[in-house]
Amino acid sequence: MNIIPHNSGLHVAIIMDGNGRWATMRGLPRTTGHRAGAEAVRRTIEAAPNCGISTLTLFAFSADNWQRPQSEVSALMKLFRMYLLKETRNCLNNGIRFSVIGRKDRLPGAVRMAIDAAETFTRNGDKLHLRVAVDYSSREAILNAARKLQNKNISRENFASLLTEEAAAPDVDLLIRTSGEQRLSDFLLWESAYAELYFTKVLWPDFGLQDLTTAVNEFHARDRRFGCIREAAAG
Ligand code: FPP
Repeated sequence: MNIIPHNSGLHVAIIMDGNGRWATMRGLPRTTGHRAGAEAVRRTIEAAPNCGISTLTLFAFSADNWQRPQSEVSALMKLFRMYLLKETRNCLNNGIRFSVIGRKDRLPGAVRMAIDAAETFTRNGDKLHLRVAVDYSSREAILNAARKLQNKNISRENFASLLTEEAAAPDVDLLIRTSGEQRLSDFLLWESAYAELYFTKVLWPDFGLQDLTTAVNEFHARDRRFGCIREAAAG
């Protein structure tokens, strides 16, 4: 069983929200908002290593998103595939390891193939671990891990390594959600037990380097105590 090492960089997770509203405000179809969202993904990945981030987990498609209109789901799947075909080489050239977390078996075959190729080509990347959550449900991931349990005395660390076995990562340090919504929506519930939460009103397609820097700076200004008290206050 793999214990997940806590490396020196931050694990930042982002719930990318507001693509639809961004487009609707401009009188554009929602899919245009998703395309603009893909540009924000590119900007964020590019900025992440310089912000001290070594693992970046992006929530791209939840298990509940299948309930959206078929036309929007198809457009999103097409966008993921195009993005992967276009960006895999960039990932490879920039030391980015790409992984998907979530179910792959319900995705269209062409998307699965693009994911498999991107994961294989980039597997040795060591500058940034980019994890994209697709058809993802955190409660489902926890249930699946519980189903694998043989040892009732399993440690928290070992249980965590069962959650996303092929794309294991340390706990989330900072969880960002854009667009003003303030909820977790079944995203990384176990892994975010001690994450600092950061909510911004910025809609995802407008999110850029400055917004990421502001969030990371605020994270560094927070006092993370993990349930303890500061030494100076003790006694
Ligand atoms: C939430 O906004 C966004 C999504 C469900 C899709 C996220 C997809 C992208 C950012 C594009 C591509 C991603 C990758 C990884 C290439 P919403 O549609 O729920 O917005 P709304 O709440 O304003 O309707």
